Parts: sequence; structure tokens; C-alpha cells
Amino acid sequence: MAISTLEMRVLEENSEYLGVSKLVLMENAGRRVSEFCAKILGSRKANILVVAGPGNNGGDGFVAARYLAQSYKVRVFLLAKPSEIRTPEAKKNWEILEKMRLTVETHYGYDFQKLREMIKYSDLIIDAIFGTGLKGVVREPYKTAIEYLNSSGKTIVAVDVPSGLNPDTGEVHGVAVKASYTVTFHCVKKGLETGRNHTGKIEVVDIGIPREAELVAGPGDVVAVVKPRSAYSKKGDFGRVLVIGGSEEYSGAPALAALSAMRTGADIVVVAAPLSVADIVRSFSPTIIVKKLSSANLAEKDVETLLALSERADSIILGPGLGLSEETRNAVISYLSKIDKPLVIDADALKMVAEKIDLLRDKSAVLTPHAGEFKILFGVDVPRSLRERMEIVRDKAAESGTVILLKGHEDIISDGRRVKVNYTGNPGMTVGGTGDVLTGVLATFLAWSCDPFFSASAAAYINGLAGDLAVKDLGFHITALDVVDRIPQALRNFDTGFKP
Ligand SMILES: NC(=O)c1ccc[n+]([C@@H]2O[C@H](COP(=O)([O-])OP(=O)(O)OC[C@H]3O[C@@H](n4cnc5c(N)ncnc54)[C@H](OP(=O)(O)O)[C@@H]3O)[C@@H](O)[C@H]2O)c1
Repeated sequence: MAISTLEMRVLEENSEYLGVSKLVLMENAGRRVSEFCAKILGSRKANILVVAGPGNNGGDGFVAARYLAQSYKVRVFLLAKPSEIRTPEAKKNWEILEKMRLTVETHYGYDFQKLREMIKYSDLIIDAIFGTGLKGVVREPYKTAIEYLNSSGKTIVAVDVPSGLNPDTGEVHGVAVKASYTVTFHCVKKGLETGRNHTGKIEVVDIGIPREAELVAGPGDVVAVVKPRSAYSKKGDFGRVLVIGGSEEYSGAPALAALSAMRTGADIVVVAAPLSVADIVRSFSPTIIVKKLSSANLAEKDVETLLALSERADSIILGPGLGLSEETRNAVISYLSKIDKPLVIDADALKMVAEKIDLLRDKSAVLTPHAGEFKILFGVDVPRSLRERMEIVRDKAAESGTVILLKGHEDIISDGRRVKVNYTGNPGMTVGGTGDVLTGVLATFLAWSCDPFFSASAAAYINGLAGDLAVKDLGFHITALDVVDRIPQALRNFDTGFKP
């Protein structure tokens, strides 16, 4: 099945998390390209030209050049200055080529005359200008270089994706290489299927991404949902989260979910809480906005207020501390039958939707049950074996048309098609409130990305990591607030965009 560039990025990052580095993947990718070129050239003498860009696609081209130099005459033209090479992996492979003076000829810069001559004397050209990193219309000097390649009449082997072709949609970004062959990595990219008139024959090659990279929740999932901050960001850009929770009996749960969403990076968090606890929830922090509802517990007459508050929300947490009164149950069912926004359903709300789960079908809803709530929801015990648990979560997610995050010693996440396991977290997190913290992280990711599956996987990973950091500092003497306090540390390596 074809995959998107986002899914590929998740796999690369999770591969690194498992210990297979990007440098190893680049080595494998370049080697596979060289093997493919050797297969089509056979034993005949040939001049090969690698035309490279400054990203990892270029890096794959550098590695291919190194292997091909053992049997062919190889020249490399980098369409940038070496100082503009963007990644450490590509830089390392360029430096190796620069040391191979006797076997590889390297050129760089914008001398189009030189490039034309080199194209003319080549039998085979490797297009390593852009792969999955293309954004927007192809700029110079790449545009002219691509036009030269297309008018050359030579055999062109594209690395991963023909340069200029949108890897997700197959659209041409102004100009795109018309390849004779495309050697693509791990899986066919979606855009190759629709951009067939640019790809030539497609060869899919294995570059050593472990199968486990698809099955583990890890940094790749976080990269997929974290929103980069531009210098021009304004209030609201990073999400508005609405928490519907609290009852006569519980005030801490909605507050924890709200504090967690704020710490994760949501811009605005509003808690809609019953009259009985609204002021208590408000007293936990001046950063939380609290909307006081009409009665001691959530009641049906509040539904219009909830729907009005939901209008401005990017994601909604429903459930923390709601209690199980009949009037609240009616309100929850009535609200769910009218709302169509990304939802996180937790705690008491899970028990209330058990018989009305159809209300959530295909609604971008994530359910976050523990084993007991899972049984109430679906009427089955959670099996002991990890594999069986994965299967049952996938089956129930498919049946219900929701994403399920089953909390436990290992968290299991499924959208009915894909299934992942999260291994972060520790026995100190059995303390009350860590589930509420999870919902705050999850709702923020959902507000940023609108992707329930990656948001749930990323939230399980970050919540567990924050819990691990808390236990490292404090031993098994943590509270849920200690976990909230460590969310920034757990997320530090994922902040992208503007550098303070
Ligand atoms: N390392 C790994 O784990 C791994 C594994 C498998 C494959 N790969 C390879 O890595 C590739 C992805 O590498 P990458 O993310 O570094 O991206 P890339 O495809 O190499 O392209 C990124 C480069 O292209 C430039 N660029 C993007 N859009 C442009 C445009 N419209 N006009 C001019 N320049 C443009 C970028 O400049 P700006 O920086 O200015 O945007 C950047 O220098 C894959 O396709 C595959 O070949 C890597």
C-alpha cells in the first residue's frame, strides 16, 4: 500500500528511536540505488552523473556515487555550496566523496555550462535533487537543472521521487524530472501512483527500516503532530482546547487535564464545569478560563452552552470527573449527538457512551479507556498477551469507527487499521490523575494536527516520558502534577520553527 510523506517521516524517526540511525538508512538507500543502476548498466563501461540537492535526497545520491565508483566513471554535481548541505548525514557523505579524489569527480555551485557538458557525456544520470522534502514551486538553480535533465534524452534514475513531483499528490511543482526509473524506499509514495508519467518504471527497495518502526509509538509520532512556531504566530494559532468535566464529587480531574493542555502548548484552555466546582477549578491556576454551568452536575439544559463553547474549540475533552448521574448521562448523549469536532472521551464519559458508541463513528474521536473501562465499553476482557491485546484493540477500533488508546503497562493505540504499542511510563504512574494529564496532552496534539491516530500515539509516548522523568527525579513518590511539570522537558527536542 502507498504511504504519505508524513507516514514515511514517522517511520524514519521511530527507526532511529529503535537504534537504526538515519545515517544507516542513507547508506542502505544509496547502496540500493547503486545496485539498481548496476543492474541496468550491466558490465558495460559507463559514465554516471549524480545531480544532487542539499538535502537527504542528495545524501542518498552521494552514497550511490561512492558504491558506483567501484565499477564505473562517476561524477557528482551538487547544485549548492557544500556549506549549504542541510543535514549531518548528507554532509558526512559529501565529505567522504571529497576525499575520494582518484575515483569520483565532484563539482558544486551554479555553473550551468559545466552541468550541460557533464550531462552530455553521461550514459546514466541519477536525479538526487529532491525527494520527499519538496515544498512549493521549484526554485532556481534547480528549475533550470531539471529542464536540462529532461531535454537530455539520457536514462534518468530518480532517487525516491522524481525531483519536482509532489510525493503525496503527484502534482508537478512548476517543473519535474521525467525519469526512466524511480527507485523508491520502503514503500511506494502516494504521489508516485498519480504521477506515473514522470516516474518511469518504479522499483521499491528495502532500506532496513525495521517492521517494529510501524508498531511502536515514539518520537516519529510526536514529530507528526507538533506544530512549528513561526515568528509571526498569534494567539489562537496553537489551539483552543475545551474541557468538559467536574461534578459535585470531583474538581481535580478537569483541572489536571486543563493544566496539562496548557503545559503541552495549547494557547487557550476553557473548562466548562458545573456550578458546584467551577470556582474550585478556577482556583487551581489563573491561566485556565472557567465557564460556570447551570447546576451542581452537568445537566441537559447546559448542552446549548457546551455547543456554543465548542464552536471556538479545536479539540474537546469530555469526561474527567463528570460523575455518573442520570442528568449528566443525558447531557453527554445529547451533546455527542450534535457535536462534530475532534474529541477525547475519557473516564465517566466512556461509561456513558458504552451503549451509544455509534454516536462517535467517524467523528475524529479518541477513546482513552483502561482495561476496566474497555470491558464496560465493549463487553470483553482485555487479554494478557500483548499480541492478543493489540488484535482486540484493533478489532474494536474498526468496529466502532474510533481511535482507541487502551491505557496500561504498555499502552495500545489503534485506528482499526494501524496498531501501535507505547513503552514509556512506569509503575509510579498508577497514582491518580495521570490519565487526566494524558487527555490534556492528547487534546493539544489533536488541536494542532487533527490526526487522531498520531495524536494518540504521540500523547501516550510524551505522557509516559514525562512520567519517567518525574520518577527519575523523585522516585516512586510522584503526583500527577509532577508529570504535568515535566511535559516541557519531554517535548523539548520536538520544538520546531522559531528559535528563541
Ligand atoms: N535519512 C533518512 O532517514 C532517509 C531515509 C530514507 C530516505 N531518505 C531520503 O531523504 C529524502 C528526504 O530528504 P529531506 O527531507 O532532506 O528532503 P529533500 O527531498 O532532500 O529536499 C530538501 C531540500 O530541498 C530544498 N527544497 C525544498 N523545496 C524546494 C523548492 N520548491 N525549491 C527549491 N528547493 C527546495 C530544501 O530547501 P529548504 O531547506 O530551503 O526548504 C532542502 O534543501 C527522501 O526522499 C529520501 O531520498 C532519507
